[in-house]
Amino acid sequence: MLVRAVTIIPIEVVVRNIAAGSLCKRLGLELGMVLPRPIVEFYYKNDDLGDPLITTEHIEILNLASPHQVEGLKHHALVINGHLQQFFGQCRLNLVDFKLEFGVDNDGQMILADEISPDTCRLWDQNTDDPRDRVLDKDRFRQNLGQESAAYQEVLRRIVEST
Ligand code: TMP
Repeated sequence: MLVRAVTIIPIEVVVRNIAAGSLCKRLGLELGMVLPRPIVEFYYKNDDLGDPLITTEHIEILNLASPHQVEGLKHHALVINGHLQQFFGQCRLNLVDFKLEFGVDNDGQMILADEISPDTCRLWDQNTDDPRDRVLDKDRFRQNLGQESAAYQEVLRRIVEST
C-alpha cells in the first residue's frame, strides 16, 4: 500500500449516528437510539490521560489544531460519514459510529490518515435486531461476544459482494 507521510494531528474525531458505547455511558442514552443528526466529538490522543473527550476550546488552549483545521476536521468527518453510510448501507450494515484521524502532509494539506475498519467503526447487521447477533465489529471482542473473526469475515464478504 502506498501512502503519503503525514504528521498526525493528536485528535481522534468520532462521528456518531446511533447511540452506543461511551455516548450511552456518558449521557445515559438508550443503546440503539437513532440520533436526530450525526454528531462529531473530539478526543485528545493521549494515552497517559486516557484519550479524554475535549471541546474546541480545549483544542485551542492545547494548541492541537488551528480553528480553521478544527472546522475542516468536522466538515471532512461529516462528508466521510455520508460516504460511509451509503457504502455500508449497500452491504446491509448500519454505521453506528466510527473514529477518524487526520494528518498534515509535506505540503501543509490536512488529509485523512489511519485506518477505517471494524476495529474503528461500529457496524450493525441490518438483517437482525438481536443486540448480540447484530454486532459485526470490535465490540464482539470488547463485550466478550466471541466469533470476532467470523464477524470481520462477514463484513468483508458483504463488501466484496456489493462492489
Ligand atoms: P466509544 O463509544 O468507545 O467512544 O467509541 C466510538 C467509536 O470510536 C467506536 O466506533 C470505536 C471507535 N474508537 C476507536 O477506534 N479507538 C478508540 O480508542 C476508541 C475509544 C474508540
